[in-house]
This record gives sequence, structure tokens and C-alpha cells, in this order.
Amino acid sequence: MASLVTTSKLLLRGTTLRYNVLSVPVYAIRTLKSSASVEFAAEAAPSFTSEPITKKEPLLKEFGIYRWNPDHPTEKPHLQKYTVDLNACGPMVLDALIKIKNEDDATLTFRRSCREGICGSCAMNIDGINTLACLSKIERSSKPSKIYPLPHMYVVKDLVPDMTHFYKQYKSIEPYLKKKTPSKEGDRENLQSITDRKKLDGLYECILCACCSTSCPSYWWNADEYLGPAVLMQAYRWMADSRDDFTKERREALQNPFSVYRCHTIMNCTRTCPKGLNPGRAIAMIKRDMAFD
Ligand code: SF4
Ligand code: SF4
Ligand code: FES
Repeated sequence: MASLVTTSKLLLRGTTLRYNVLSVPVYAIRTLKSSASVEFAAEAAPSFTSEPITKKEPLLKEFGIYRWNPDHPTEKPHLQKYTVDLNACGPMVLDALIKIKNEDDATLTFRRSCREGICGSCAMNIDGINTLACLSKIERSSKPSKIYPLPHMYVVKDLVPDMTHFYKQYKSIEPYLKKKTPSKEGDRENLQSITDRKKLDGLYECILCACCSTSCPSYWWNADEYLGPAVLMQAYRWMADSRDDFTKERREALQNPFSVYRCHTIMNCTRTCPKGLNPGRAIAMIKRDMAFD
């Protein structure tokens, strides 16, 4: 502190300044309260603080992005090419999309919110894989990348799929706790043992991004009646919950040739899940439990 005060005075006096500025670390100069002193110090500071900043050579990568505009319904969908300098862009595909939208083409449309794999809104097909753009690293090569909306979905615009049917199916499984006996007065919580709580691990983490359902061939061909892996995993999440009183009824609702039994254990769903979950296993558990009913 003493050296700071001394330095401050010397800065204002200006005469013996050069010697004293050199003897004080840069971070100390920046903590001085007087803004005049700070500015003066910055001017007077010699070049020992900075190496010349070297700008990286541009690393250009081409992105082919699916475009379709509902305002021009007669125009066919097409891939539009954009070039991005990867050395001036964040590391994830979502960063590249945001950069393109901000700097090249404001009409490019896609969903995103959290940019950290929590909201599920940036799900799309990147180089042939259904995944989240915010968790997908850009391959640092000049090889072009192709980005489409989630497959076999109606498209609202560009990379935005219509999720209406998916959410309707999710609603149909009643994804919430159902009790036969109302909680006693004063009970605020539905308690569960640690062992029972553990049974929900690997199920509750699903963010409903629909990457799995839209990678499932059975869902492609029978989406009207087959519920698909994402919704079935959530159906199982409530069947497996020890606090829920409707496990049997939940299974009964699926007893038909389509809701569950269109799953042929191809396992595309589990392979593609960007959260590392295993919807294929959850479906197998439902089938096992239904076999004993
Ligand atoms: S395991 Fe079942 S749900 Fe998953 S991709 Fe295969 S058919 Fe679809
Ligand atoms: S299981 Fe995985 S891929 Fe499927 S909706 Fe949930 S988070 Fe997305
Ligand atoms: S922006 Fe939320 S999951 Fe990608």
C-alpha cells in the first residue's frame, strides 16, 4: 500500500515518473483510484507489458445450411452456403450459426436458448447426426459441414422443426405425479427412499430435444401412433417412480400394437442421444414389465 501511495504522488508530479512507473507492476497501476493517473500511466508505460499481438491466419470453413421459407411456399428447400472464419468464431456449431445470423444473413432461422445443453431447443442434424448445436464442436478442417433440421419432421422455417405432434404425444403419457390417495393435511412432500430415487437416474435428465425420436426409423414411418423413444422413456420415468400410484394404468394405456411395440430395438435412439441417455433400455424395461401384466 505504501508503495502505491508513493507511486500515485509521483505519477501526479510527473518528473521522476518514468523510473517509478517501471518499478511498479501493471496490476498495481490499474488499482489507482484517480482516473487521470491511470490514463497517464497507460500512456507512459513502456512496451514491456505487451508482446505484439499476432492475428491468426483465417481458417475458412464452408457450412451448407438447409433453407426453406414458408412465405415462399412454391420455392423448393435448398442448401445455402456460408463461409465462416473459425479463428474468429466460438468453438461450437451454434457459435457459427449465431455468427452467420449476426454478420451475414439475419434471415437464417433456428432455435436456441441456453447454449449449454439444457433447454434442448437447438437440436438439429449436423453432418448426418441428430445432436445439439451448442454441444457439437466444429470440426477444425476445411471440410464443408452440412446442417439440416431434425429429420422426418414438418419444417416451420429453415432449421426449425414443428414439435406440435411430439409435445402432444408427451402430454398423452401424463408426465406428472398422480396419486390415488390425496396427501394428508400438512404433508407438503411425497417422500422417497434413496434407493427408489436412484431408480430415476438416467431417466429424469432427458431434455426432450427429440434427437432420439427423429433418428428412429420406426418413428419415421409410424409417428402418428408409435410414441417414439423420448416419450416412452418419460412414460417409463413415471412408471418407475415409487411415489406414483398409477403404474399399472400407465402400462395398460400402452397395451396396443403401436404405442410401444413398434420399437424393434434398432438402438439408433441410444446412439444419438446428446445427453448420453439410454431410451432403448427404458423401452425394453416397459416391454418386460408389460409381459408380466
Ligand atoms: S431402439 Fe426402438 S426406439 Fe430406439 S431407435 Fe430403435 S426402434 Fe427406435
Ligand atoms: S432421450 Fe436424449 S435424445 Fe431423447 S429427447 Fe431425451 S435428451 Fe433428447
Ligand atoms: S441452446 Fe439449449 S440445448 Fe442447445
